[in-house]
Amino acid sequence: MTTARAPRLEKITPANLEAALALRVRPEQEFAVDPVAHSLAEAYVRPDKAWPRVIVDADRVVGFVMAFLGFDWRDDGTDLRSGLWRLNIAADEQGKGYGRFAVNAVAEELRRRGTKALHVTWHPGEHGPEDFYLALGFEKTAEKVDEEHVGVLRL
Ligand SMILES: CC(C)(COP(=O)(O)OP(=O)(O)OC[C@H]1O[C@@H](n2cnc3c(N)ncnc32)[C@H](O)[C@@H]1OP(=O)(O)O)[C@@H](O)C(=O)NCCC(=O)NCCS
Repeated sequence: MTTARAPRLEKITPANLEAALALRVRPEQEFAVDPVAHSLAEAYVRPDKAWPRVIVDADRVVGFVMAFLGFDWRDDGTDLRSGLWRLNIAADEQGKGYGRFAVNAVAEELRRRGTKALHVTWHPGEHGPEDFYLALGFEKTAEKVDEEHVGVLRL
């Protein structure tokens, strides 16, 4: 008999660190997301703003997600935002619902913190994640950060 398993998020620990660092997206997607090591370095220097987690299914680390919490968007204290900072699903684990799971889990965490909107920025391009975010209900706003589109999911 097979048992249905559900993915889960775990904090980064000595036990899962190497698997997290080994995560690779498809080569043609690398322009769209920084490597996990870069994200963990950012989380180290901004521990109050970063919420990093690995996505685990059974005993496999299948991805990495990092939320940002209360970023001062305009550096003047008038616009504090939270959302999705990084999302890396392993190349051979894509298309199985892990990305959707991770976005929903971040949405749940932000709701728990009383946040009303989940922001994300993405690089445009054929192999970028735009259609993924639109499929999940994100609205593409007119705003851009450098070349990246800003999307928002109302919570
Ligand atoms: C984008 C990414 C996170 C999607 O993760 P995933 O686990 O493959 O996505 P899911 O399997 O959860 O897909 C959820 C839905 O989005 C759709 N979807 C996923 N990627 C898509 C794409 N590139 N184009 C169109 N639809 C897409 C799926 O078809 C699915 O819809 P369905 O449930 O109606 O079938 C993954 O491809 C990835 O890690 N890409 C490289 C890094 C990246 O771009 N990260 C985002 C940085 S902002």
